[in-house]
Amino acid sequence: MASHPKSRVFQTQCNRTHQLGALAIAILTFFITRLIDNPLTSCSLRSPTDPTLSERNSIDLVSNGRLNWPEHGYGSSLSLRIYVYEEREIDGLKNLLYGRDGSITANACLKGQWGTQVKIHQLLLKSSVRTMNKNEAQLFFVPSYVKCVRMMGGLNDKEINQTYVKVLSQMPYFCRSGGRDHIFVFPSGAGAHLFRSWATYLNRSIILTPEGDRTDKRDISAFNTWKDIIIPGNVDDGMTKFSGPTLVEPLPLSKRKYLANFLGRAQGKAGRLLLLELAKQFPNNLESPELQLSGPNKLGRTEYFEHLRNAKFCLAPRGESSWTLRFYEAFFVECVPVILSDQVELPFQNVVDYTWISIKWPSTRIGPELLGYLDSIPDEEIEGMIARGRQLRCLWVYVSESERCSAMGGILWELQRKVRLFHQSTETFWLHNRTVVNRALVRFDNWIPPMPLP
Ligand SMILES: *[C@@H]1O[C@H](CO)[C@@H](O)[C@H](O)[C@H]1NC(C)=O
Ligand SMILES: *[C@@H]1O[C@H](CO)[C@@H](O)[C@H](O)[C@H]1NC(C)=O
Ligand SMILES: *[C@@H]1O[C@H](CO)[C@@H](O)[C@H](O)[C@H]1NC(C)=O
Repeated sequence: MASHPKSRVFQTQCNRTHQLGALAIAILTFFITRLIDNPLTSCSLRSPTDPTLSERNSIDLVSNGRLNWPEHGYGSSLSLRIYVYEEREIDGLKNLLYGRDGSITANACLKGQWGTQVKIHQLLLKSSVRTMNKNEAQLFFVPSYVKCVRMMGGLNDKEINQTYVKVLSQMPYFCRSGGRDHIFVFPSGAGAHLFRSWATYLNRSIILTPEGDRTDKRDISAFNTWKDIIIPGNVDDGMTKFSGPTLVEPLPLSKRKYLANFLGRAQGKAGRLLLLELAKQFPNNLESPELQLSGPNKLGRTEYFEHLRNAKFCLAPRGESSWTLRFYEAFFVECVPVILSDQVELPFQNVVDYTWISIKWPSTRIGPELLGYLDSIPDEEIEGMIARGRQLRCLWVYVSESERCSAMGGILWELQRKVRLFHQSTETFWLHNRTVVNRALVRFDNWIPPMPLP
């Protein structure tokens, strides 16, 4: 236990005695709990010096700004072929992209936390892994901007469902594999639930989504740990530039006013409400005003990041769903993200060890104890986490995979791991001479829509 249980921040900034008292108790409780926990339980937290963790230092993944994806299970180089469906090729696809009357533009859908639905499509169109030949494609990408289209009133839930079914029934290759080699992006907390009948039709497909859980609102989660891929959220382009000044630059640790912050709307969520209360109790250490979508309590884009950078730790509590964009934004203002969302799933878990760059704290223990713990972490350790995060954050940036390191590069490596040699479904059959046929014994190259769907 390296650090002393006495608070630095609280000694200098806190003038209210009850604050000090509450915090001292919290810190004491924290250390006593750890003392009791550590020797007794086998699943206690391992320190970063634990050899098993050091051995697979995920920071090696990015050295000198270049992505070195580990070979194991992924192949030695990125060589896959993806076919991207053309909007004019399938009746209905245009509606999934631009709404029922085609009036919603891709540019309008590019910004904000759901912009990944557009960005991934646009990056794939320019990608070196794109093939124009369906016969040689290993994977198929079905473009759709439905999250944005729905938000802008371009399609309602019923229309989205019907349009997806109509589109899929025109795709022989989707039928050949029952959708197993087809890729869909669902960029919001709702995940694939945006398409009401996803469980019938996209049940086997590869879903790219930032969301690992939506069990508070639905009986089943649309995310499958083995089949689907978690993608990073879409951080504001002004903050993710590789060169040139960003919208807001990080502050030196010593210049930051707060120990921690949470800048978001409470949305009536328990964890968030607790943080707002905690901020009232410890106003000098935790910045957490209740933000609004509009009006005087709305922060502008620059203002938001100026607040975010003013703390050592950025708290990322669960909101409507388990993923939160704040986790990714933290890396660009260089605060240490503290995840307070128990069900969260993070991208590239096969290769990134998140204990090096972030903290995950039980959402059931949000209170003075949390602030006490954060305050006990020495600045050198915080600097270390920030420095490692600075190396890895290129993995959250949506630029071409031809850049040295990018979210797109990471996603393509994960996709490469999913390539199948063989394609089959309940509606696929094959004969002695390797001819693939459907139930009516029609050869695959002659299959004509509408297709029976899985
Ligand atoms: C989605 O559309 C299909 C085809 O029109 C229909 O069979 C299905 O019941 C719809 N699902 C929902 C949940 O409405
Ligand atoms: C996925 O589809 C299979 C086969 O149609 C079905 O048995 C299974 O229940 C579906 N899974 C979900 C989550 O709906
Ligand atoms: C394979 O066998 C089937 C059934 O005998 C036949 O109809 C088909 O033409 C054959 N395919 C090829 C490529 O020879």
